[in-house]
Amino acid sequence: MTRFGQQVAVVTGAGGGLGAITASILGDLGLAVACVDIDEVAAKRTATELNDRGVTSTAYGVDITSESAAGALSEAVHADLGQVSHLVNIAGILRRTHLADTDAASWRQVMDVNVTAPFLLTQAFADDLKSAEYGRVINCASFAGTRGYEYPAYAASKAALINLTSSLLFDFWGTAVTVNAVAPGAMVTPMLDHAAAQRMAEKTPTGRILEPDDVAAVIGFLAGRSSRGVNGTTTVIDGGASLLFSYR
Ligand SMILES: NC(=O)c1ccc[n+]([C@@H]2O[C@H](COP(=O)([O-])OP(=O)(O)OC[C@H]3O[C@@H](n4cnc5c(N)ncnc54)[C@H](O)[C@@H]3O)[C@@H](O)[C@H]2O)c1
Repeated sequence: MTRFGQQVAVVTGAGGGLGAITASILGDLGLAVACVDIDEVAAKRTATELNDRGVTSTAYGVDITSESAAGALSEAVHADLGQVSHLVNIAGILRRTHLADTDAASWRQVMDVNVTAPFLLTQAFADDLKSAEYGRVINCASFAGTRGYEYPAYAASKAALINLTSSLLFDFWGTAVTVNAVAPGAMVTPMLDHAAAQRMAEKTPTGRILEPDDVAAVIGFLAGRSSRGVNGTTTVIDGGASLLFSYR
């Protein structure tokens, strides 16, 4: 048990559309939540909303791509909340650039946020996760990572995250830690291009674009004890769009 007799979740991107709702759902499940975001004001807003509802939550304004971020965050969360049982990697960036207009710096930045940071954070929290009663790593990939997308850096980073998710099973072999990913389709958050969203709704069997809580509900299930048989998977959450979807 941790400092407050609760499990502790670290949620990156907790100031964003999906991250804030995920933090809220995990708080409702009884976890203390460390809200991490490069946008410190947004991270604090989420943590304050949780505190107001009686959830133990702290905010960290951290750029997860910085060299020292994972170690420093681990120390800070230990001091404030205790040992971490859940790592939920939600932070992500999308650069709408193609082959010709993606320079090396932009490519690396997308990779750094979307896949290198989840790797380094998992490394930093691995001992905590292993010694928790049950540990959970939940990565937010994307439908784009399952089959390619017109923005290659983003799609490749999410494909790498999906592969990392299943590859990490070897490192947690024989422990109570599971590692899973969700792969959302288009979701109504600040990241979404609203004209594209409208077009996609028409191509989705459910006739609607996802709301972040559609995805956070699945994350909530993966975070719980009863998901213990689910390991190494990526759950596509897209209202069935991938059945019919074509990019052109
Ligand atoms: N919105 C969609 O349609 C969609 C679809 C599929 C997957 N996703 C994925 O869902 C996740 C959440 O995205 P969202 O839609 O909520 O977008 P969002 O932009 O609202 O949230 C992303 C959050 O990540 C934070 N972040 C970015 N770089 C960071 C860094 N270096 N360090 C710390 N925090 C950083 C941002 O400040 C932001 O709060 C992302 O991984 C995204 O790729 C989104």
